[in-house]
Amino acid sequence: MKQSISMTDNRTGKVYEFDILSATRGPSVVDISSFYAQTGMFTYDNGYTSTASCKSNITFIDGPKGELRYRGIEIEELSTNHNYLEVCYLLLNSKLPNKIELLEFDLELRHRSLIHENLRHLFAAFPAGAHPMATLSAATAALSTFYYDHIEISNESGYQEMARRIIAKMPTLAAFAYRHSIGAPFMHPDIDRSFSENFLYMMRAYPGGKMHRGLNGEEKIKDIEIKALDTIFTLHADHEQNASTSTVRGVASTGAHPYVAISSGISALWGRAHGGANESVIQQLETIGSVDNVDAFIARAKDPNDEFRLMGFGHRVYKNFDPRAKVLKGLQEELKKELHLDSHLMEIAQKVEEIALNDEYFISRNLYPNIDFYSGVILTALHIPKSMFTPVFVIGRTVGWITQWIEFKKDKEAKIARPRQLYLGK
Ligand code: CMC
Repeated sequence: MKQSISMTDNRTGKVYEFDILSATRGPSVVDISSFYAQTGMFTYDNGYTSTASCKSNITFIDGPKGELRYRGIEIEELSTNHNYLEVCYLLLNSKLPNKIELLEFDLELRHRSLIHENLRHLFAAFPAGAHPMATLSAATAALSTFYYDHIEISNESGYQEMARRIIAKMPTLAAFAYRHSIGAPFMHPDIDRSFSENFLYMMRAYPGGKMHRGLNGEEKIKDIEIKALDTIFTLHADHEQNASTSTVRGVASTGAHPYVAISSGISALWGRAHGGANESVIQQLETIGSVDNVDAFIARAKDPNDEFRLMGFGHRVYKNFDPRAKVLKGLQEELKKELHLDSHLMEIAQKVEEIALNDEYFISRNLYPNIDFYSGVILTALHIPKSMFTPVFVIGRTVGWITQWIEFKKDKEAKIARPRQLYLGK
């Protein structure tokens, strides 16, 4: 059978033919790269709802089925049986690490987690109370001045070093951004702690490496807290060509430094329609304030004349359920017994979910809770403040962004990202 599609211009009767490229999973694509040359017209796809911008073999999502895989492995399997560093290794190397490889990877990341002392001074330039996302984006761009050589990478070890460096330093930059925002002294990473534990430590510790002291003595970071944060990082590790990843690839396409591309990804992630939704969900639940007010807010979300949207609901790709949200809902249940989850906020969230899932407006538009609907309550229980929810997303996603950046660089067909427009001006 011919692998092509024909299109007729009904004004002239002229028929054009375009090749179909088969996918290993999910929809095939029509190669329209010659569309303009053949027809003299552009295609119009507002918000890229039908456009594949690249060929990739990193992450696969089946929206209707609610399926997410990194390098072919389902997210449920990865979040249950593997830790975040194994997932990072998988994304970067297309295979899970063996014991020795994991140990070496872990040790390398621990050693690379420190940031240059001069970079530390950058934080002093920002006003008190600066939002950590703004500081984090700026600090990540500034990191490119310390590792300028990464602008030209010619071999695999160069790619790996560049990627491991940014993955290792992101939790330190994020924790510094937070501590600056509250005027607390910076805590340097502790080489004896694992990736996820270290982030909690840098967020919480007192100078000298002491943790909070209660009446019963020093409070340790609990294993269950480390596991919960680690799972959250895994669930955020990559999500194919979303807005921030497309931004990273777009910046990569101009030949800019990889860490500047990551900084741009951080900026793109910040918005409420994307990663910023996790902070907005909790703000919204707090504004709702009581289960008695839920109906009124649902009515606002449905009102076409009101811009109010239910945060943590809906997704461009998932139209049935978000598999990441399913894992987090299960995690919430698990943690309820062992950690202090805010039962008041959970009650409001449950009511919102219950009403929305049975409401014609949400059902007909396939609007379901997404990952951000559940992450906030868990992060709050880990003593992570709202302003740090999106930086936590950044830490998890850095590996995805940098893996996609590397894939772009190695792609022989890669071109500068340069869409066209439908001009309607004078
Ligand atoms: N509350 C109320 N109505 C909604 C919502 C919502 N959260 N999301 C979409 N709709 C309505 C929208 O008004 C439209 O209705 P109509 O057809 O009557 O005009 C319809 O559903 C389709 O919405 P859309 O904006 O065309 O859908 P989209 O695919 O362009 O947007 C979205 C996806 C995630 C930006 C959107 O659902 C949204 O703004 N959700 C709230 C923010 C949020 O939770 N974002 C986190 C996404 S998951 C984390 C990540 O990976 O970034």
